Amino acid sequence: MKDGQFITLAIESSCDESAAAVLSDGRFVMSNIISSQIDIHEKFGGVVPEVASRHHLVDINRVIDEAISEAGIEWRDIDLIGVTNGPGLVGSLVIGVATAKALSLSLDKPIVAVNHMHGHISSNFITYPELEPPFISLVVSGGHTNIIEVNGYTDFKVLGATRDDAVGEAYDKVARVIGLGYPGGPKIDKLALKGDKSAIEFKRVYLDKDGFDFSFSGVKTGVINYVHRQKQKGNEINTADVSASFQESVVEVLVEKSVRAVKVSGLDKLVLAGGVAANSRLRQLITQRCKEEKIKLYLPAINLCTDNAAMIGVAAYYKYKSQGADDLTFDVHSRMDF
Ligand code: KG4
Ligand code: ZN
Repeated sequence: MKDGQFITLAIESSCDESAAAVLSDGRFVMSNIISSQIDIHEKFGGVVPEVASRHHLVDINRVIDEAISEAGIEWRDIDLIGVTNGPGLVGSLVIGVATAKALSLSLDKPIVAVNHMHGHISSNFITYPELEPPFISLVVSGGHTNIIEVNGYTDFKVLGATRDDAVGEAYDKVARVIGLGYPGGPKIDKLALKGDKSAIEFKRVYLDKDGFDFSFSGVKTGVINYVHRQKQKGNEINTADVSASFQESVVEVLVEKSVRAVKVSGLDKLVLAGGVAANSRLRQLITQRCKEEKIKLYLPAINLCTDNAAMIGVAAYYKYKSQGADDLTFDVHSRMDF
């Protein structure tokens, strides 16, 4: 406790960001430090798990020290330690989890293991201090594409999921095919602004119109085939048009399915979450459709869309409040249900 505030220290290392944050009273950020390895993995064209875990090992203590000092707290002020234990890269997760367990033991403070995806949804509780469940969340990241009915802070019901690629994964693969490099999402987002979204007709894959599942491998293959065909004909590829047309075909489906999920569930709030929530076209179209449908829309702050520890701190707090602490024997998991 510091000045009567409940202090959470959160640690996140599920992929290529070593991150630590300090929060007060659940959802108020005192510090949020992220050490990104993008520059390192860029030259490999994607995240190399072995390289990622080694860098976490080098960075994690410095990142935590910085989070503590920027928050202006002492170690003894910490009331709770939260750490991501999945889903993610196992070699990366173990660095954060081992560090968090060591701190819990040495400081004699409770610890909770956090599902990374609960963290992504929780980023909105920071951006909107008044936001409370229930609501529908569209979760779009590098590994997940889900429509979730959030009935409480720790109560998640999966309404829909991708049957193949996650949307972020499709962005990254398409970016590679048109030579943009890693991470592809932000690069396609930027280039698409200069392109014509109706230049090329890529399929909108709705699967079962009444269901909430997604499929993005078809449109990804559509882009690959288009690029090959143009190359065979000796045509130059307009990467801006490809970016804009691909993006439109996935964003339209994401928006329509989530708007319908809000209507079918009888709820009135839609909450966006995950790395792809930073996408400017997705934010634009979902804002427009929610306005038309009179749905209250919540968009996470851009800096909280991609991986960070502040969102993990929020999810840790609510899990601790409802279920108490975990014991030190919890494991890490590459895959995890909601
Ligand atoms: O949530 P996140 O940081 O990590 C996972 O939990 O997966 O999401 C990373 C994903 C990557 O696929 C990245 O290309 C995508 O989010 N992304 C974007 C944008 N910013 C990040 N995709 C589209 N537009 C963006 N602006
Ligand atoms: Zn993530």
